[in-house]
Amino acid sequence: MADQHEVSGTLTLPSLRWDEPPEGPVLVLLDQTRLPVEEAELVCTDVPALVQAIRTLAVRGAPLLGIAGAYGVALAAARGFDVDDAAEALAHARPTAVNLAYGVRRAAAAYRRAVADGADAQAAAAAALAEARAVHAEDVEASRRMAEHGRALLGELLPGGGYRILTHCNTGALVSGGQGTALAVALAAHRAGELRRLWVDETRPLLQGARLTAYEAARAGMAYTVLADGAAGSLFSAGEVDAVLIGADRIAADGAVANKIGSYPLAVLARYHRIPFIVVAPTSTADLQTEEGAAIEVEQRPGHEVTEFSLPHMWGAGAEAGAGIPVAPLGAHAYNPAFDVTPAELVTAIVTEAGVVSPVTRNGLAEVCSTSRWS
Ligand code: MRU
Repeated sequence: MADQHEVSGTLTLPSLRWDEPPEGPVLVLLDQTRLPVEEAELVCTDVPALVQAIRTLAVRGAPLLGIAGAYGVALAAARGFDVDDAAEALAHARPTAVNLAYGVRRAAAAYRRAVADGADAQAAAAAALAEARAVHAEDVEASRRMAEHGRALLGELLPGGGYRILTHCNTGALVSGGQGTALAVALAAHRAGELRRLWVDETRPLLQGARLTAYEAARAGMAYTVLADGAAGSLFSAGEVDAVLIGADRIAADGAVANKIGSYPLAVLARYHRIPFIVVAPTSTADLQTEEGAAIEVEQRPGHEVTEFSLPHMWGAGAEAGAGIPVAPLGAHAYNPAFDVTPAELVTAIVTEAGVVSPVTRNGLAEVCSTSRWS
């Protein structure tokens, strides 16, 4: 089995780890709200603390949310809390990233199976933990395979290397048990000497690009440049982008991709400039029950994230307004969807651990998902 506490080359601490000190089991998160200032750990002893960490983005990114959700169920079981209540609270902590509900469902199902088979509380909790560890290990392996497939695809689309890749949000070791999704591909290209520059969208309003991707890129020794999201168009028009690589929070059956707000405009730019727009995500991010992109629930976040300048660690427990520096008049209305949805026709390829879907069609996606080891 892959090392559950693997520390990526881009981080000092693991993005998440299970621990069993004498006081009882805990889930230890690398608190992403503290980055890039420090790598600090956040210890969750119960599910409400984990739900709060998910809502305030101390732990975030689709694959890692799945892993955290699974361990959250194991934590509830190990500490004797009601597992059904815990699963319900965790699965609904954030609505868009399908991996969260996926991880919760797997660990809860393992727990319920054990109970149905006559296991006592301790054995049922052990079954939930074993399943969480499996979700974690699978993500490590999926990440490794996506990096391989993605790097091969770049080689086919852009022979000769020297890539200038634009990325959005954060998709590296911080969202994964391994090296991540899109950033894992860029990292593989970098290690092979094929990456000329990583363009990092700052990713307003919560700056996952500037705070997190740039942090990982710097630690990995990549040549990277941070830009304001609105500057991407001028980069394309100057011919400075060879490919866009992003992750996904949910992929509908029609191949539409929900990802961090600002992804769709990049897809439109990429199409206009005839640049490959590549999505890298494990098959666990595909939600074949959701027929089309329009049906994906997009999380709406509080307006103060847009109308005030603040960083997540400044929000306090309730993520209230008033913690930051106002950048709009008091009472200004704000539009703050956390994600947007890019239609399949704008996506050049979806890179999964089970292979590459290109062109992106309903049948192609279903086929790759059916060949996934874990589907
Ligand atoms: O709101 P966040 O920071 O959880 O959003 C994360 C993203 O949009 C990532 O790009 C996505 O989860 C893909 S990461 C593999």
